[in-house]
Amino acid sequence: MDPDFDFKDIIANANDIVIVTEVAPLDEPGPRIVYVNRAFTDLTEYTPEEVLGRSPRILQGPDTDPATRRRIHAALTRNQPVREEILNYSKSGRRYWLDMNIVPLVDPDGGVRYFAAIERDLTERVTAEAMKDEFISTVSHELRTPLTALRGAIGMLNPQVVPELTPQALELVDIAQRNCARLLYLINDLLDMEKLASGGVPYSFAPQALAQVIRTALDINAPYADQHEVRLVFEPPRVDLQVMADEQRLLQVLGNLLSNAAGFSPPGGEVRVDLQPQDDRVRVSVCDDGEGVPESFVPRLFQKFAQAPLRSGERRRGTGLGLAISRGIIDQHGGEIGYYPNRPRGSCFYFVLPRIQGQAGGR
Ligand SMILES: Nc1ncnc2c1ncn2[C@@H]1O[C@H](COP(=O)(O)OP(=O)(O)O)[C@@H](O)[C@H]1O
Ligand SMILES: [Mg+2]
Repeated sequence: MDPDFDFKDIIANANDIVIVTEVAPLDEPGPRIVYVNRAFTDLTEYTPEEVLGRSPRILQGPDTDPATRRRIHAALTRNQPVREEILNYSKSGRRYWLDMNIVPLVDPDGGVRYFAAIERDLTERVTAEAMKDEFISTVSHELRTPLTALRGAIGMLNPQVVPELTPQALELVDIAQRNCARLLYLINDLLDMEKLASGGVPYSFAPQALAQVIRTALDINAPYADQHEVRLVFEPPRVDLQVMADEQRLLQVLGNLLSNAAGFSPPGGEVRVDLQPQDDRVRVSVCDDGEGVPESFVPRLFQKFAQAPLRSGERRRGTGLGLAISRGIIDQHGGEIGYYPNRPRGSCFYFVLPRIQGQAGGR
């Protein structure tokens, strides 16, 4: 039964934008617009008369991402549907973000003569996200300064400086100190994430002997492993494996992997660090024999703020940013980071970096 109303009226009044274009030409001057609804005129400030017969390209501008445009072009060339977030410009030059969903309209004879784009205005969400990032960054900066001072002051509360401290007072100082360190750690994670997201971390690359960097990381993280009664094991290979890297950033990645491995290991457990050449790359893995990562959580590893659900009796430790930061850092080195389950139990996290070739001592 055909309903006795006109779908055109519904589309004309929808809150989302609907644009229909011809399929060709995808290259200059672009396909012609044959229909726009009211949501389109409201957002873009163009009247239908001003845009009919012209290409949607008039809505793009200097900051519209060329890569997004290429992906859309590639999909439409193959008559495939495509969904992208894209920055467009209104008639008066106001910028707005769209969730754009383009579908080919298939004729009864199977041909495609039109594309329909259904678009939702995302500007508020994108603006809110930018404000949130800015807020996190500002607050973290503001918190870090007094906290650093606080840590310094508490650090002075030791028997060498203040001999009259009772054992009870020292215990309290110890609690204060550990919590200060933890807070600083969390704040630094937030700041690092924000800096990585905005591309504002300066890297200083230099040739690094990876075995030496790993040894340094093991030294730095030994106290934490001790706390968890976990042994850190590393047998360096005989070959000198050199990579072009920012040592501090690599130490940060290794610190994240080691602290996770130690934190998720049972007391008496062992964390193994392995360093191997692999073709023209170098591979570092950090394996533990802890609980491992639940299979359902594996796809979310390396995402911001992602943490697997706590097991009973477990206490939440970090921010869920360590792996996301690590991936950002390894990306900046042209490397790759990943996870696979350890056998018979536990986790292995690894990263690979391009190896410097023809280095003295290298093979
Ligand atoms: N070695 C590991 N064993 C088991 N789970 C892990 C391990 N490393 C990371 N994970 C899981 O990945 C999550 C994210 O890790 P990470 O980004 O370092 O954040 P955080 O350590 O602050 O929770 C952890 O909360 C945990 O659920
Ligand atoms: Mg962590």
